[in-house]
Amino acid sequence: MKRNEFLKSLGFGTIALVAGEGLLSCGMNMDAAVAPNVTDGEFINALEIPETINGTTPLVAQSIQDELLTGKKVMVQGYHNGILGPTFRVQKGSNINIAFQNKMSEHSNVHWHGLVVPAEMDGHPEQMVMPNESFNIQFPINQQAGTSWYHPHIHKTTAKQVAQGLAGLFIVESPEEKALNLPSGSYEIPLIIQDKRLTTDGSIKYNPTMMEVMSGYMGETILVNGTYKPFLNVATRFYRFRVLNGSSARIYNLALSNGADFYVIGSDGGILPQPEKVKNLMVSSGERADILIDFSTLKVGEQVYLINETFSTMGTSQGTQSYKIIDFIVKNQESDTFKMPSSLIPVPKIAGSSKTRKFTITMDMMAMSGGMHKINGKVYDSNRVDETVSFGATETWEFDNSTGDEAHPMHIHGVQFQVVSRIGGRNTIFPQEKGWKDTVLVAPSEKVQVIMKFEQKGKFVFHCHNLEHGDDGMMLNFEVK
Ligand code: C2O
Ligand code: CU
Ligand code: CU
Repeated sequence: MKRNEFLKSLGFGTIALVAGEGLLSCGMNMDAAVAPNVTDGEFINALEIPETINGTTPLVAQSIQDELLTGKKVMVQGYHNGILGPTFRVQKGSNINIAFQNKMSEHSNVHWHGLVVPAEMDGHPEQMVMPNESFNIQFPINQQAGTSWYHPHIHKTTAKQVAQGLAGLFIVESPEEKALNLPSGSYEIPLIIQDKRLTTDGSIKYNPTMMEVMSGYMGETILVNGTYKPFLNVATRFYRFRVLNGSSARIYNLALSNGADFYVIGSDGGILPQPEKVKNLMVSSGERADILIDFSTLKVGEQVYLINETFSTMGTSQGTQSYKIIDFIVKNQESDTFKMPSSLIPVPKIAGSSKTRKFTITMDMMAMSGGMHKINGKVYDSNRVDETVSFGATETWEFDNSTGDEAHPMHIHGVQFQVVSRIGGRNTIFPQEKGWKDTVLVAPSEKVQVIMKFEQKGKFVFHCHNLEHGDDGMMLNFEVK
């Protein structure tokens, strides 16, 4: 049964009788989304930029003090000197050697989301690093330039650890990308967008109710790179922004407050074949977008916001509000040397699929325990291998959400795929889906097909990147052998 039908069938007054404590504790507010309380004129915090490190810098997961709201020092989790982690910047063809240390009081690990690495380095939920233990991470970078990221991947605590602050960017560069002369240095800015629910003392609260496991956990405060109500001073020229939606569940439909066009130049795992001019861009949990914004049409003193624009409602609550994310303030006049290339980096079409696997993604309201979110009727079981794939095979995987009414950003480890089709729902392939992907939004009523070649042996997971859904069991194992 669909969630909305289920709720209707209960009727508000009968919830307590029919569903018992679980649903009742969610209160009578059926709209599980929380409004971001972002108001005008208050973007007074300079955007923090995570420190850049190389592929041999140690990484420490720890509980650490930070200040999310001015003057309120709180404990968060992070990989460095506060919330989030440093940005790795490495070259294609190089070797990564990272000493990872878990200094927290709970187990964790590191998953390299978007990087195609050997299974034993992927941060499979089984690969746990216990408190005060270390793990040496080594893998070669054999993929095109792009924006990946890293975060813990312990089943049932992934969402909580990411919410508390464990996430960072991992940028791969290549000579082909360099040749494009894209804006770089202080003109290339990471934007890790996350919504948080904060307590009055300014610390991060993570305690989803059953309703919020269904919709995903949403916060009323939007942070960018851990900065609340951020601004960035810009010059009158092109900037490159590497956007990561590092939220548990919230989907952003990015746009500029003046309605101007901007350009998508990269997707999750690489640069697009050509720049795509857009007015808005949807980024769901786990997805990245490499974008170029031209501030040269503005005058010094003017400002423009990156906003979330409303979109046709998806799931219980997604898309209902418009709000500001970051304020770009034009501070100085500069002449721009950047010229938009007409083509970028070719993305050879993957062909020759030898098999199509179908995955129905559902939410089973009646399964009050043991996970409501299922793939092909199953909740995650670490001891079960759900799919076996031949090493080197090219396959088509179809995610079918045609009977569902929540949005599911589906993510596959160990590969970069290409989106082949989207049937039903939004019925199109979007500009940011015309390149290398590892996460694809499967909205209600949609069936999305992706194609990929499996070039890493071993056991990996694929799952919904709505992190509450994933932790609830919307995840399966596949083994390549
Ligand atoms: Cu971003 Cu399986 O994760
Ligand atoms: Cu991943
Ligand atoms: Cu989901």
